[in-house]
Amino acid sequence: MKAVIKKIFPGVSWQNPVINTIFKMMDPADYIVRLSRGLSNLPAYSVRVRSNGVNKQFGGQNFHRFGQQLAKHLETNANLNSQSKVLEIGCGCGRVAFALADIVDDEMYIGMDIHKVSLDACEATPVFKRKKFRFDYLDVQNDEYNPDGTSRADVYKFPYDDNEFDAIFLVSVFTHMLSDDVSNYLAEISRMLKPGGVCMITTFLMDKGQEWPGISFPHHEKHHYYYNHSLPEKAVGYYLEFYESTFAKHGAKLSREPLWGDWRQDPRVTSTSNFGQDIVFFKKE
Ligand SMILES: C[S@@+](CC[C@H](N)C(=O)[O-])C[C@H]1O[C@@H](n2cnc3c(N)ncnc32)[C@H](O)[C@@H]1O
Repeated sequence: MKAVIKKIFPGVSWQNPVINTIFKMMDPADYIVRLSRGLSNLPAYSVRVRSNGVNKQFGGQNFHRFGQQLAKHLETNANLNSQSKVLEIGCGCGRVAFALADIVDDEMYIGMDIHKVSLDACEATPVFKRKKFRFDYLDVQNDEYNPDGTSRADVYKFPYDDNEFDAIFLVSVFTHMLSDDVSNYLAEISRMLKPGGVCMITTFLMDKGQEWPGISFPHHEKHHYYYNHSLPEKAVGYYLEFYESTFAKHGAKLSREPLWGDWRQDPRVTSTSNFGQDIVFFKKE
């Protein structure tokens, strides 16, 4: 059955107008469930599924829970506090920003993304308006999220100053980007971090193997390993060494051992990240 559905609806589910209409029809029911859980402020189901997947998305509980857990990692491993100036690259519809609204001071958070629907949802969110959180749309090309984008990710210069941020983080973004693009982003992240600032990245690390019951990465090009031959950006993995050697050229070092995610769905790798993906932290010297 799964194979048949994949054949009829190849690529990414929400890009298909029929599936997207079905998601929109589920919005009112999702809202009622969220209301009963005190989560009415979250974006609509049909928006959340675009950046956070369909699995266990209904009702908003997982969206909320993982946002909180990721914010905790930023506090514990990236020294995030109320005074930290934070940049989130690929913020989607604000999963972590909701949790950060209780942690950082007004005006201390900037989220950027290339996906207009997600950013529009952030801009319409009252709590973000109250906190004066800023959301920037950047028209960078990505085959999955912004196929007609006018700027190339492998040469893109972010519109932020050198040494501007205490913390920069990306959740499930390099899992959709190829290695030339990621190399440029790592250089830019180092440029924008203050000395002593920390970058948190969630990723699929290939170091423990590429074939797992959860997901496999059988294809390989340059430094990236990928799952889907016709849409590489659907799921991309890297070796830790790629991050280490690329960041080293720009003065940033691994600041703690990686936290392992449960995406492998294999009991031989114990999850330490409380999240699906692996998490790495790099500090600018
Ligand atoms: C799986 S979603 C994750 C969204 C959000 N970080 C979260 O965890 O809820 C991936 C996000 O990365 C963004 N993205 C993809 N390529 C990007 C790029 N080159 N620059 C910035 N964001 C990008 C997408 O638009 C999308 O919002």
